[in-house]
Amino acid sequence: MNVGVIGAGYVGLVTAACFANLGNNVVCVDIDKEKINALKRGVIPIYEPGLREMVKDNLRRKKLIFTTNISLAVKKSTVIFIAVGTPPKDNGEADLSYVENVARRIAMEMPSYRLIVEKSTVPVYTGRKIEETLKAHNKRRIQFDVASNPEFLREGQAINDFMNPDRIVIGVRTKKAREILEKLYEKFKTSIIATDIESAELIKHASNSYLATKISFINAISNICEKCGADIVSVAKGMGMDKRIGAGFLNAGVGFGGFCFPKDLEAFIRISEKLGYEFDILRAVKKINDQQKILFVKKIEEALWILNGKTVTVLGLSFKPGTDDIRYAPAIDIINMLKKEGVKIKTFDPKAMVKAKKVLSGVTFCNDAYSAVKNSDCLAIVTEWNEFKNLDLKRVKKLMREPVIVDGRNIYSPDRVKKAGFKYVGMGRKL
Ligand code: UGA
Repeated sequence: MNVGVIGAGYVGLVTAACFANLGNNVVCVDIDKEKINALKRGVIPIYEPGLREMVKDNLRRKKLIFTTNISLAVKKSTVIFIAVGTPPKDNGEADLSYVENVARRIAMEMPSYRLIVEKSTVPVYTGRKIEETLKAHNKRRIQFDVASNPEFLREGQAINDFMNPDRIVIGVRTKKAREILEKLYEKFKTSIIATDIESAELIKHASNSYLATKISFINAISNICEKCGADIVSVAKGMGMDKRIGAGFLNAGVGFGGFCFPKDLEAFIRISEKLGYEFDILRAVKKINDQQKILFVKKIEEALWILNGKTVTVLGLSFKPGTDDIRYAPAIDIINMLKKEGVKIKTFDPKAMVKAKKVLSGVTFCNDAYSAVKNSDCLAIVTEWNEFKNLDLKRVKKLMREPVIVDGRNIYSPDRVKKAGFKYVGMGRKL
């Protein structure tokens, strides 16, 4: 099929690369000239395993074209995905001006029938607004359909998630739109849930906020564990074995970050408000998530007594392993809180240092975990990269000034760390 993807951000780029890899002819558009020029040379602006190879391969096969020219994409493609950014406004609502702009351009440029699919995470009713915009600017009365096809990929495993999703959700109003999307996804070995546009939009918001709720719930339980002497890892394991609950997203820690959960949660609270519903659970989810970072800093303070003048090593800057993304990363807030208390920060992250250097000042960036712990009073684990799990703790102890580990992702067994001679503090762990 001829597929257009407007927006070469995380979702757009992965969507374009994967559809091209499946044999479709894909035109991917972005207004950022520098980004497009880099992409044309196979240079990817994000770290995502496998993406660079896939993009390069499909550029070579001429299955994938990058351009800043939106009319080229609209003219060449029957199916056009809108995957532009929906950044948060000051009040937490999603800013849909990029979506509106794209819809207007498509309406003005489309030569014949087009299926316009929203892929960006958008508030319920956006599909309807896109339809209205297309109608208003479609002077030549060309036929079109709008559909919603939310994306559920996770950063760090985006290609695998895109190619092997748990389900494909399509929100459509016509049989034609449904058939086109079913054809596009026919090679995928998974169920397609076809529903109306509003339900498809809501599935995305409801899924992300449910997962965020699961994380805050387990973090709340981890706080109870600490108060009553239980161990969160055992509690989560015991809960997760109930099929109705499931084991995923029950890892307690410093909380969720990234450009999806915090932003989508806030946006969903605003959408609900606008629809006349106070979504109190989601407000509590946000509050617990904010508190986890403060709690983590308090744990460091309790372990060190006085923070001012101490050196803390923060291992991990990205909001989770497998990505260089530091947007809404807990590490950034934690480092800034510690700095305010007069703490000297040494840090290391396998992938996120380049991006972190742009937003953090007065922090020592080290070449590896061992140089980061040298002469440090406390090792604070914030992102659970595998290489941190496998550190040689004997070597770490020799290098540190004080053998203290505050483990914000519960990557270590308290017994093992204590046996290695450390003072260990986890999140909801039995000590
Ligand atoms: C999330 C969803 O998982 C995807 O399905 C969705 O497509 C995406 O948002 C989006 O809306 O675009 P992502 O933000 O890449 O994906 O990351 P996750 O793997 O879901 O992790 C989010 C945050 O939750 C991370 O900071 C992670 O450390 C934290 N987390 C996750 C926990 O604290 N505990 C857990 O048990 C699981």
